[in-house]
Amino acid sequence: MGDLFSQIEQPEREEILALRKELEDANYRYYVLNMPTLSDREFDEKLRRLQDLEAQYPDMFDKNSPTQHVGSDLAKKNDKGFEQVTHRYPMLSLANTYSLEEIQDWLHKLPSDAEIVCELKYDGLSISLWYENGDLVKAVTRGDGQKGDNVIDNIKTIASVPWHVDGVPAQFEMRGEVLLPWESFERLNREREEQEEPLFANPRNAASGTLKLLDPKEVKRRGLTCYLYYMLGENLPADNHFDRLQTAKKWGFPVSDAVKVSRSLDEVNEYIRYWDTERKNLPVATDGIVLKVNNLQQQQSLGYTAKTPRWAIAYKFPAERQLTKLKQITYQVGRTGVVTPVANLEPIQLSGTIVQRATLHNEDFIRSLDLHEGDMVWVEKGGEIIPKIVSVEHNAASSPSRDATETQQGSEFAFPTNCPECGTPLVRVEGEAAWRCPNESGCAPQQIGKIVHFVSRKAMNIDGLGEETIDLFFREGLLRNIADIYSLRKEDIARLEGLGDKSADNILAGIEASKQVPWARVLFALGIRMVGETTAKKITRRFTSIDTLQWAKKEELTAIDDVGDQIADNIIAYFMDMNNLEIVNRLRQAGLQMETSGGEQQTASDKLAGKSIVISGTFAHHGRDEYKELIEIHSGKNVGSVSKKTSFILAGENMGPEKRKKAESLGVPLVTEEEFLAMLQ
Ligand code: IVH
Repeated sequence: MGDLFSQIEQPEREEILALRKELEDANYRYYVLNMPTLSDREFDEKLRRLQDLEAQYPDMFDKNSPTQHVGSDLAKKNDKGFEQVTHRYPMLSLANTYSLEEIQDWLHKLPSDAEIVCELKYDGLSISLWYENGDLVKAVTRGDGQKGDNVIDNIKTIASVPWHVDGVPAQFEMRGEVLLPWESFERLNREREEQEEPLFANPRNAASGTLKLLDPKEVKRRGLTCYLYYMLGENLPADNHFDRLQTAKKWGFPVSDAVKVSRSLDEVNEYIRYWDTERKNLPVATDGIVLKVNNLQQQQSLGYTAKTPRWAIAYKFPAERQLTKLKQITYQVGRTGVVTPVANLEPIQLSGTIVQRATLHNEDFIRSLDLHEGDMVWVEKGGEIIPKIVSVEHNAASSPSRDATETQQGSEFAFPTNCPECGTPLVRVEGEAAWRCPNESGCAPQQIGKIVHFVSRKAMNIDGLGEETIDLFFREGLLRNIADIYSLRKEDIARLEGLGDKSADNILAGIEASKQVPWARVLFALGIRMVGETTAKKITRRFTSIDTLQWAKKEELTAIDDVGDQIADNIIAYFMDMNNLEIVNRLRQAGLQMETSGGEQQTASDKLAGKSIVISGTFAHHGRDEYKELIEIHSGKNVGSVSKKTSFILAGENMGPEKRKKAESLGVPLVTEEEFLAMLQ
């Protein structure tokens, strides 16, 4: 009888497990990724079914079941950011060399029958993925090799990483590299440039910054990718590394196709030679190749040093470098007035492109290399895609550097004291390496830069006015500042070379349409330093018109989420400048949206100003997103996790037990939905 029962019970027990997993995934996709895969109705039906089944099988109670807690948009993160996890096996590094001879020596020391697995060395960040019963349960960064951060929410945004695999050992670990592909890296940097945020030097830095973000939606948008190159655990299939990788590939893991078994030095050399060129066609950055002894028993007897396995070695591709002459140092003035020195070089061929210019960053950089015009310099192009000058060559026999005449003529480097574009004395902001031209409204590149930003897609989105056209209009005296855009006349535009009636009509139509662009984007378009798109939105929620913003006090500004002292100072300084006030007036007269219109989100009140509020549970009158909006438009801040700084918890039905416990222990009050709505009355 008992047997018969358990046979009947079995499918329902499995259904409970499957439903829990499905609903957990759905919660994650809904709350964290903002990409629901189930309709609300489907979700509710499945949740109801799970509740019924759990009631029938009380022995299967699990406090982690989706019936016991609501989905969270900050899954498993603590107040400091990520959960710290001790690696099951320490995460070691690799011995590496730039010398083919050392590779040869390493190969010679191996047993004569050793097979070598050749792989690409991906230039990203190492990650360790833990699978239990087929489920991805942790994704841990290298950290210090012993302990790392669990960044599973971010890793789950990578489409090629399976959340679940079937027919696998109960526990195992996959290690590999997380990367940001070149294309995504370039797009990200273009966006950052537009927003005046510091650029990432290379895809590795960008991937590292991305993996540490606390917002998986942004991580997803940036588009990380991953290659796995190592399987660890007990009782795993196969007795060699290559077969394990192929098995992992069959299980659905992203394993590179470039893995190859070699049996001789010649084959290894051929692999290196081939990939040294071919890697330039890959979508991701690589900086060398990795050689691993294939046989696991041989690996074991070779063993480890304190930091690296003896059974593997990395050969790093040398960065390409060339010697050339630094003809002249010139200076570029950017949109924000920063003056950047640029090296003008005798053209050279480097990694497939002709290089004749390289940034010198700032005065300190030039001094640290002791660069003089006329020097012979080494230029390198490596993982940093931008060519850079790495050193001065003083004793190249064929290319004497700094000859007697130069020293006599004293071509010693001196940074200009005045703006190379407008002559204004430069200023150096304390704590910054850059020199800046302070003549914001009268220095041509700054004026042009401001106009280009104003018309850009995320700002006023004026079709037809590209950078070249703006340049032309500026030279022709048609545009000096952003307000002039609204005084452009058809006949002035149409008479210019390359334009005509049709282009003029197009441009004017674009300008006309921009008058409907909402106030938040207008504020962003003004180009106040450090006021990016998101900050502008937050400011306009609190200040619903330019008139109120113009008179805002510093403490009112810094009370806004994201607005610190520096941004507040920049806003105040912007409205103190007479030139800016005149521009704003002209824009207003032109009919731009300078206040929140009906359809936009407004700041309804200050009732929640200074309050940090956690939302937990499910609600009867509004959805969670609506409550989030309500908090924001009443000037409060919605935060994800409970801490001693939390003002109160907006507590709905089925509030998570963990949150409740934490709130009690910290003395954070709970406010019901009705009480909360009454507060806002
Ligand atoms: S194997 C114990 N294989 O390079 C062996 N590492 O410089 C562990 N890397 O920490 C590493 N591509 O992040 C291995 N095909 C590859 C690799 C690779 C890139 C990274 C990895 C490692 C670092 C060492």
